[in-house]
Amino acid sequence: MKTLFFNIKELLQVRDQSIVKVAGAAMKELPCIKNAFLRIDNERIEDFGPMSELKDFNADQVIDARGHTILPTWCDSHTHIVFAGHREKEFVDRINGLTYEEIASRGGGILNSAKKLQDSSEQELFEQSSQRLEEIMRLGTGAVEIKSGYGLTPESEIKMLKVIKTLATSFPITIKATFLGAHAFPADFKDNPEGYVDLICEKMIPEVAKQDLADFIDVFCESGYFNVAQTDKILRSGEKYGLIPKIHVNQFNSIGGVQVGVANKALSVDHLEVMEQKDIDVLIGTEVMPVALPSCSYFLNIPYTPARKMMDEGLAIALATDFNPGSTPSGNMNFVISTACIKMKMTPEEAINAATINGAYAMGLSSSHGSITKGKFANLIVTKDIPSYHFIPYAFGSNLIEKVMIKGVFL
Ligand code: NIG
Ligand code: FE
Repeated sequence: MKTLFFNIKELLQVRDQSIVKVAGAAMKELPCIKNAFLRIDNERIEDFGPMSELKDFNADQVIDARGHTILPTWCDSHTHIVFAGHREKEFVDRINGLTYEEIASRGGGILNSAKKLQDSSEQELFEQSSQRLEEIMRLGTGAVEIKSGYGLTPESEIKMLKVIKTLATSFPITIKATFLGAHAFPADFKDNPEGYVDLICEKMIPEVAKQDLADFIDVFCESGYFNVAQTDKILRSGEKYGLIPKIHVNQFNSIGGVQVGVANKALSVDHLEVMEQKDIDVLIGTEVMPVALPSCSYFLNIPYTPARKMMDEGLAIALATDFNPGSTPSGNMNFVISTACIKMKMTPEEAINAATINGAYAMGLSSSHGSITKGKFANLIVTKDIPSYHFIPYAFGSNLIEKVMIKGVFL
């Protein structure tokens, strides 16, 4: 099946295959072609360029895209989409004055979701998660990372990862799986945290690897959760089984999480709401992608990642949703981009780079996703008729998406 788009108002994020991420001042540039054509061959991008270079209209499907902008679909590199039930009561408790930490210390939070998940069947989880996956695809997401971490027992962690695997084979969107057994200490291990770290390292990681259920390994490195030494031990155990680190750090406190991520060659370090200068300095010159999650800051009313300062110091930033029932019950990347511009002073160009090519990098998917590049997947957002791409973050809350194509097929 061959598809040709012609008269495209603006074709955004056109890149050479050699670009795997953009950092610092380079994030201000978003290469685009005005009045463009784009050819798709089955699931891949075949060719593109200005209309003046279009030689013929031969294709099975020929689409006049006059007035429409086309850009690559969003790459959401950090989510917890597989979960059971919701936590709207905690939302109201926070409005009434409790903090996220206080709710967690009363048995709410992650442990609340873990109880619900342990009581749910694989089929129930698949059905609930499918709805969320369909929703985010329609909102323009074409690749997503999904974490375990609400199981917290060997059986339930494996159950979550199997659901992620079934989602990956049931939907066209590309899915990467992350093992997050180290999300919180289960109640049974309250007085024996090292016992739970050993269970992760000696039982869960080998089983996850044996069944080939995850690409990455994650730890919630935070006061009251996993300390730096425990994080290091878990990441090293994962590394022996080929699991690459992508970790939760500096959400509430700067305790050395970024440093342990850099030392273990993490693909990404995520959250980063509380960053000291030493945390920025240690990232400079590394290949580690810093990932900001502005919807989480918005929902929990906590600081935003200092992305402006980090980019000005030469770092890259990727943007992701953190879709989960506790801190971010939203998987809308369009909202993430608006919020990054409005609250973090990212320019539209920086935010779109952060949500496409840099998001792809944070999932190890740069060679196939994140830009309009010959040979990459034909994962496209076709916008409604908008005056310019600046409208994408500007008109926050409006749905500006006309159509989404994933791997050459319209949803
Ligand atoms: O990324 N911070 C740790 N984990 C999730 C929230 C988990 C939850 O509250 O259920 C996050 O924000
Ligand atoms: Fe998270």
